Amino acid sequence: MSLDVVILAAGKGTRMRSNHAKVLHTLAGRSLLQHVVTTALTLQPQRLAVVVGHQAQEVMQHLGDGPVWVEQAEQLGTGHAVQLALQALPATDGADVADGAEKSGAVLILYGDVPMVSQHTLSQAIDAAAAGQVGLVTAEFDDPAELGRIVRDAEGQIQRIVEFKDASENERQLQEINSGIMAVPASRLREWLTRVEPHNAQGEYYLTDIIEFAVADGVPVVGVVAATPEEVTGVNDRAQLAELERIYQRRQAQRLMAAGVTIADPERVDIRGDITAGQDCFIDINVVLEGTVELGEGVHIGPGAVICDSAIGSGTEVHPHTVVEGSTVAANCSLGPFARIRPGTRLDDEVKIGNFVETKKSHLGPGTKASHLAYLGDATLGAGVNVGAGTVTCNYDGINKHPTIIGDGVFVGTNTTLVAPLEIAEGAFVAAGSSVTVKVESGDLAIGRAKQRNIKGWTRPDQRQDKDQ
Ligand code: UD1
Ligand code: CA
Repeated sequence: MSLDVVILAAGKGTRMRSNHAKVLHTLAGRSLLQHVVTTALTLQPQRLAVVVGHQAQEVMQHLGDGPVWVEQAEQLGTGHAVQLALQALPATDGADVADGAEKSGAVLILYGDVPMVSQHTLSQAIDAAAAGQVGLVTAEFDDPAELGRIVRDAEGQIQRIVEFKDASENERQLQEINSGIMAVPASRLREWLTRVEPHNAQGEYYLTDIIEFAVADGVPVVGVVAATPEEVTGVNDRAQLAELERIYQRRQAQRLMAAGVTIADPERVDIRGDITAGQDCFIDINVVLEGTVELGEGVHIGPGAVICDSAIGSGTEVHPHTVVEGSTVAANCSLGPFARIRPGTRLDDEVKIGNFVETKKSHLGPGTKASHLAYLGDATLGAGVNVGAGTVTCNYDGINKHPTIIGDGVFVGTNTTLVAPLEIAEGAFVAAGSSVTVKVESGDLAIGRAKQRNIKGWTRPDQRQDKDQ
């Protein structure tokens, strides 16, 4: 059976009070829409259409060329939105008739602002549609507020959906809600949508009307009750977004703990991406992990550290408030506190990077140390190099970047400026306070500083100079 997915994302999202489209607000570092698309793609649909309206340009730019974009200039209702989408996804096999259900496949309808729906729940709805039924995702809410209510008959069969604004007092007491997510045989859906009329409290074309049509046509409606309410919770304002964020983060933390990671406080860690971790890692409070992060075994991450798109080898210690981005760190290294490891950094085993050290596009060989206050950019350092405090690679001449190459066992004294392009060969020694501009040969000592002069018996000025002089 072929599957098409339609994601509705044309609404304004007034309650977000934002200049940006609601579906572009982020949950765990990725847009709401991206979450929905990612889950949809796990179902391997034949086609995926996204209906956009408000801030359509911004939304289309965000996702690019992947989906079929459908512009809904006026938001006339969910039924209208799906109808437009189906016009953009023409029936593929000509089986566009009511009894061709199995042949023409299924359509899964998702909302761009319901980010946590699971593949498991969706698969159940799709199974119903594949069997020629309607799979409708519902949930039980303690406080269903203004969501559409599911009306079942005495036997518990779903009869229809009533919108809050159209519901009677009794219907408003119902606690089973319509998530809006459903899977429907494609040809049936096309036909039912032509029958939807805007005769209701809101004057909209309600997608929900098709449930009554299904029942009238003898097509069973299967309720798929979501395992947890958050699966079908939509984001309407920033408070709801923050609630979902916490739920999402708690789950991520639980997943890592189950994999053998100790988390100092699961309420105070933020995981915004795909994180894998070996056993016995420790994550202290207020750590942020972003993008693709791989932690080896026994990695210790101190409070306030931010690690983004990086791999950290086993036994490495990331001390407090260290930022690591786009880098590869091998085993048993020590980073920080307050270090900044910028993209393109590669640190071999047992490298030590201390406080206020910044690295960028640099490779440090095993056991090399830069313990305090240094900048290493576009540099290649061998094994066992000692970089003194205040060492700076002058890699930028205002136009181009130049490399610095430092051989094994080099000692760079404190407060040294290394003017690139520059090479310091194996075993060389650079005296503290040097400006090094020419190659230092292996085993040599470089001193590049003005010779000290002491002036005998110098007298300090004994009077304040007049300001005008
Ligand atoms: C809809 C359902 C309601 C359900 C609720 C769940 C209908 C008639 N009602 O109500 O039963 O409980 O969702 O959240 O379907 N959208 C468009 N184009 C439109 C209208 C909406 O793309 O013309 C999109 C919105 O961007 C949003 C989704 O559809 O992602 C739902 O729209 P919304 O206005 O929030 O629907 P509700 O009235 O809340
Ligand atoms: Ca809504």
